[in-house]
Amino acid sequence: MSSDSAKKTIGVALGVCLVCSVFVSSATVALSSKQEENKKLDKIQNILEAADLKTEDNPEEINNIYKQKIKTELINLETGEVVPEDQYTKELMPENFDIKKVIADPDLVEPIPPEKDLARIKRKPKYMLVYMVLDENGEVSKYILPIYGKGLWSTLYGFLALNKDLKTISGITFYEHGETPGLGGEVDNPRWKQLWKGKKAFNDNWEPVIRVIKGKVDPSDPKADHTVDGLSGATLTTRGVDHLVRFWLSDDGYGNFLKTLRGKKNEQV
Ligand SMILES: Cc1cc2nc3c(=O)[nH]c(=O)nc-3n(C[C@H](O)[C@H](O)[C@H](O)COP(=O)(O)O)c2cc1C
Repeated sequence: MSSDSAKKTIGVALGVCLVCSVFVSSATVALSSKQEENKKLDKIQNILEAADLKTEDNPEEINNIYKQKIKTELINLETGEVVPEDQYTKELMPENFDIKKVIADPDLVEPIPPEKDLARIKRKPKYMLVYMVLDENGEVSKYILPIYGKGLWSTLYGFLALNKDLKTISGITFYEHGETPGLGGEVDNPRWKQLWKGKKAFNDNWEPVIRVIKGKVDPSDPKADHTVDGLSGATLTTRGVDHLVRFWLSDDGYGNFLKTLRGKKNEQV
């Protein structure tokens, strides 16, 4: 082979690489806003699914149901009080609220002492955006609480919805995780998610008693109404979900917010 044709071959190869890389980077830039949009839609679908409201696959319909039925409030997790809208900063506005961005801001987080860090997240946001389902009279019928914590390989991000009795679970969903498909990834299995519906998250003393156990729940067990089957072959993800749910329902998570809501309800009676 002459050195001339070797140069040509390298030149052509470099040219092809250049054209391909320009093509791939332009496609990445062009598609990034679409990806963001899809992520937002997926989160909305998960919010609706946790609250048993997802009946449509059409994005426009999904956005409409969300707009009509869901209200958000920003909660101060320490006091359990709703933050007035005039105190929202840009990052805390409902349309911008992104847990990952919030916990990356040192002013918006506080460390969790290791002995309390059941969810293994090290630090927690001072504020959380919670979602509420409004019924036809404009009354809140469900509370959808963002939850997250470590599984085996990843941090799982999802929602746990409670009925207005603040005790009965309406649903659970995870919109982001990196657990193994078929093992820990079974957190996405509709049959497993179905098992959560109607379970009691709290006992009569308002202690968070919900547990995800290894194996199957015995229906005759007196604790059956606050126990959920574990994922088979995925004890470590199961334990992660058990711990993160307990963390977020405890006084270190939404405990004070739920106490405030119960107080308001009692006043109304
Ligand atoms: C490639 C691979 C992926 C795995 N992924 C998960 C997982 O996502 N979640 C999990 O809990 N266990 C996973 N495991 C299994 C754990 O290592 C561990 O064996 C399991 O959690 C024990 O569950 P068991 O007691 O129900 O068998 C995986 C194992 C292998 C080899």
